[in-house]
Amino acid sequence: MDAVAGVVTSAFLLSNGIRRDTEVDLLLLADPRRILRVRLDGAGLKFLNPDERSTAALLKNALAKFWARPDSQAEVGPGIEVTLTDRDRELRAFASLPGACWLVEDGNASLPRGDGGTTVILSDPYEPSPEERSFLESLGLPKVSLGPHSLHAAHCVVLVHNQLDRAAPAGAPAPSGSPG
Ligand SMILES: C[S@@+](CC[C@H](N)C(=O)[O-])C[C@H]1O[C@@H](n2cnc3c(N)ncnc32)[C@H](O)[C@@H]1O
Repeated sequence: MDAVAGVVTSAFLLSNGIRRDTEVDLLLLADPRRILRVRLDGAGLKFLNPDERSTAALLKNALAKFWARPDSQAEVGPGIEVTLTDRDRELRAFASLPGACWLVEDGNASLPRGDGGTTVILSDPYEPSPEERSFLESLGLPKVSLGPHSLHAAHCVVLVHNQLDRAAPAGAPAPSGSPG
């Protein structure tokens, strides 16, 4: 949960605001067959602080609220939706989004920067299993490296934002709104 909270904090928090143009989908194993997709949408997100323990608490509360009345899909807080779903379906949906790519240490593609945005897939502190890797390979995503070292997932997120921020056209609106 620490690593996941770090990713969420890095994905959304600016010094004085939240990146309202960012979305994060966490795919968490629910049982051997299904996953929980926790979708965090910066446009509506509230109660996110730089303290990662509070981010972990926000996520744990969202999951507890979902399991208290498990439904296939539920809005469990401002900007947070939990869906019980299927891993392969979710990964195929990601792969079809504009600017989709897979972050891997030995990738050789450039980070996509289309008008429709950029979608990156990365794993948690555990490398994908051989089966997960072969499924991801089958999606044919461009593989993007952020450097020669194996980085923490949260640091990957910061580097991706940095590349995209620096490539944004001059005069583009800032991605932030006030902290929620
Ligand atoms: C934290 S790393 C994997 C665990 C790592 N072996 C460790 O010891 O912490 C998690 C994910 O971040 C992404 N990642 C890490 N370093 C990267 C790099 N240099 N370029 C692109 N993606 C990277 C990959 O998606 C990787 O599977």
